[in-house]
Amino acid sequence: MQIASFSCKLYDRQMLCRHMPIEWENSYYDVPLERKTLAYAEGCEVVTAFVNDRLDAVVLEELAQGGTKLIALRCAGFNHVDVPKAKELGLKVVRVPDYSPYAVAEHTIGLMLALNRRLYRAYNRIREGNFSLNGMLGFDMHGKTVGIIGAGKIGRLVGKMLKAFGCRILVYDPYECIGCKDLGLEQVPLDELFAESDIISLHCPLTQSTNHIINAETIAKMKKGVMLINTGRGALVDTQALIDGLKTRQIGYLGMDVYEKEGVLFFEDHSCEIIEDDQFERLVTLPNVLITGHQAYFTEEALTHIAETTIENIRAYEEGLVLKNEVLCG
Ligand code: NAI
Repeated sequence: MQIASFSCKLYDRQMLCRHMPIEWENSYYDVPLERKTLAYAEGCEVVTAFVNDRLDAVVLEELAQGGTKLIALRCAGFNHVDVPKAKELGLKVVRVPDYSPYAVAEHTIGLMLALNRRLYRAYNRIREGNFSLNGMLGFDMHGKTVGIIGAGKIGRLVGKMLKAFGCRILVYDPYECIGCKDLGLEQVPLDELFAESDIISLHCPLTQSTNHIINAETIAKMKKGVMLINTGRGALVDTQALIDGLKTRQIGYLGMDVYEKEGVLFFEDHSCEIIEDDQFERLVTLPNVLITGHQAYFTEEALTHIAETTIENIRAYEEGLVLKNEVLCG
């Protein structure tokens, strides 16, 4: 069986190679899967792809024509795949439903603490011999109210970890949050979460209903000086509204691991280029903004789990078994 893996960095390749059965014929490409790279997938029954690969209708049609039968996503989110189109073409789509909720939850807490205590600024100041504490004043996490949007695996873990800090945790989820009460997490309506939270953290999937869930209107409902953390998906937030909210000081701190237009930036070295995304560049200039490049998932354990589950998914397809990680709806 021929397999083509896209958006495959050296670390992905090493991890996949460690687990791939030798009888499979694998090709690894450090380029995204998109219209102009489709030739690499020609004749490959299985294609593996990552978060910023664009699996739109045209790409899916070409893949199907080229003989692809299975798309094995090496990620949990599938907002970048036209799933109804894949279904129509008879292409199966599988994913890795959870690679390490701990990795993402721990990174989320890391962003909160780094922003609150300005750790990223302290690092530079000390290296320059500047031991002044001006501008470094933080707040106790203890006693603060944290609002979590999306009380799934990651959201609940973030809540559980913050309980240890002595925070009050509010969660919003359209479905009943079974077990949240036992963890001490209070399920509330979204507007209540906006009004009462000192910190708001996004952990819901990107869907039509969550696209720009953080926008000018919802930012206005938040407490002045709120800390906003996004380790979910970039398009959960309207970037211009975010910049406006930071400029008016309505948003006091911003931590983000994902960005609406990250596809052309993240996972690559652009340090010798002029970045043309003015919104991104504006965010980078602000002293109360901390951005990481979609690295929340990036732990040894998560990469191992991604490789193992991807191979299990392909193996199940090859053996004609039920695909337990199949994506069934868009
Ligand atoms: P999950 O499926 O366990 O939880 C998602 C929760 O969001 C569910 O409880 C669901 O009911 C809820 N939800 C659905 N629609 C909602 C809405 N309109 N408003 C509020 N909540 C809603 O997913 P998990 O594993 O907790 O992951 C959450 C998200 O984190 C993923 O969808 C993905 O986008 C993101 N992620 C980011 C990573 C990173 O490296 N930055 C890595 C892995 C996931």
